[in-house]
Amino acid sequence: MHEPPSPPQASPQAPPQLFTPIRIGNLTLDNRITIAPMCQYSAREGSAGDWHLIHLGQLAISGAGLLILEATAVSAAGRITPWDLGLYSDANEHALARVLQALRANSPIKIGMQLAHAGRKASSRAPWDGGAQIHPGEPGGWRAFAPSAVPHAPSEDPPIALDESGLQRVRDEFANAARRAARLGLDGIEIHAAHGYLLHQFLSPIANHRTDAYGGSLANRMRFPLEIFEVVREAFPADKPVWARISATDWVPGGWDIDGTLALSQALKARGCAAIHVSSGGVSPQQQIKLGPGYQVPYAQRVKAEVGLPTIAVGLITEPEQAESIIANGEADAVSLARAMLYDPRWPWHAAAKLGAQVKAPHQYWRSQPRELKDLFENAKFGAR
Ligand SMILES: Cc1cc2nc3c(=O)[nH]c(=O)nc-3n(C[C@H](O)[C@H](O)[C@H](O)COP(=O)(O)O)c2cc1C
Repeated sequence: MHEPPSPPQASPQAPPQLFTPIRIGNLTLDNRITIAPMCQYSAREGSAGDWHLIHLGQLAISGAGLLILEATAVSAAGRITPWDLGLYSDANEHALARVLQALRANSPIKIGMQLAHAGRKASSRAPWDGGAQIHPGEPGGWRAFAPSAVPHAPSEDPPIALDESGLQRVRDEFANAARRAARLGLDGIEIHAAHGYLLHQFLSPIANHRTDAYGGSLANRMRFPLEIFEVVREAFPADKPVWARISATDWVPGGWDIDGTLALSQALKARGCAAIHVSSGGVSPQQQIKLGPGYQVPYAQRVKAEVGLPTIAVGLITEPEQAESIIANGEADAVSLARAMLYDPRWPWHAAAKLGAQVKAPHQYWRSQPRELKDLFENAKFGAR
């Protein structure tokens, strides 16, 4: 007897690239959606509180592959505002341990931390209080440190230029914070070298007017950020990734640019950097940013193509199809979302639904799976008597 010919098989649909795993160093992320670091200006003396439980709690159950904690100051003087999260005291470490314990008890999401020093942008008001400098003599204000005694804006009080002992102090602060991050069991560290904060101030000729080994040539301007990378890399477990966030351009003629970014990324790669998170701007009020959907993606694409490290693209990535095409076209290895995640903390669920992928959701919420999307949540099952 002849078997009837089998009907032509529909070729199985390629899985969306956004929802394929990715490795950053030894860290495997379930998917390529990362939650960008977002300052909350809601800590007390650097210590996380209930707001962090609420805010990070909802983001931890979002289904994203990685949650990067907000810019976390390595010293009190390195905070942007008096309300920044910090990791420079036992109290800070203890408070964050409480938050992390709650997140881990309820979500498998990987958690990184952004270690930061604000440099000359320290001692500011929170954005909702206008964001201006708090002058050193005013309540809550302090004198900032920076590569050079050049203020961010001409009307502001100038910072103190870091001398040799000041540089050593900052190296020690980064190393100590990295050790605390290791004790907290964080999955990775992102070094904040973007947005006009201390390490970016060293990189940019706009903020760095030094005439010693830390200023002038590109190699000299990169020296301190690279030293910081080295001390953090040394202080954090070797099997966990350390990577950097960089501003690819100052958006100011004569400022830091993509060529410097590529050179810095290569130098970081040579020192064991696991990824580059490509942002832009922040060092000068003169910046002329050309905003638009995915406006920083072309910089990530250059870093990915020319440096070959896993590259995270960020900036006005808001639509699932947009994120998918960034990954599928090889423009970046992962995307990072900030505002879109605050607006819709279930963004990864909605992206998975739109692109036809699966995503992890807490079992308490499995019953919310839409009737027409029976495979949206990984391993979801329901029973009742
Ligand atoms: C509320 C808020 C806080 C932010 N805090 C940080 C931060 O702590 N560190 C950082 O590198 N960028 C910070 N950013 C910038 C974002 O990480 C991101 O690069 C930027 O918002 C562009 O991405 P988006 O278009 O997805 O919002 C913050 C942005 C927002 C909206």
